[in-house]
Amino acid sequence: MNRRPTRLHHTAYVSRDLEKTRAFYEDIIGLPLEATWCESDELFGEVRTYCHCFFGLEDGSALAFFQFASARDRELFGPKMPDTPFHHIALNVDAATQEAIRARLAAAGYREPQTYVLEHGYCRSLYAVDPNGMIVELTCDVAAAVKPEVVNARRDRAHGELRRWLGGDHTSNNTYR
Ligand SMILES: [Fe+2]
Repeated sequence: MNRRPTRLHHTAYVSRDLEKTRAFYEDIIGLPLEATWCESDELFGEVRTYCHCFFGLEDGSALAFFQFASARDRELFGPKMPDTPFHHIALNVDAATQEAIRARLAAAGYREPQTYVLEHGYCRSLYAVDPNGMIVELTCDVAAAVKPEVVNARRDRAHGELRRWLGGDHTSNNTYR
């Protein structure tokens, strides 16, 4: 049977400061620290000593971050977050959760450009830069854009729209704005 992967298990990034990272994800974003693995492992030719923290979402998936004990491993493995707002992780939220996170970001001193909101038409997104330089998006779908018939129609058009755009026709198809 041809089944697809069921859900995100975890993402993994490298941090220089797991306590700042914990405060951001646990206290502001609201993802509890579910696991802390402290390890020394022979990896990529040497013993690496590291801590690995998992911040859980409601569906059991997690955002995970490594911190290395040695300065050499920290240099070797990162973090090197790309300096572009287009590279980010997006988490699904309802409007009330998005507003609560916005308020906690503001209370913690986050201001533009460390946090901002974009209206995409089919969703409303709150963005925040985490202590590692990674952008986290909190996405609230617009109800009209996620009705089953609308979702199905979009899926039916997806391959054709990709071919059209790659073929040079860059006309917008976002009818929600
Ligand atoms: Fe996004």
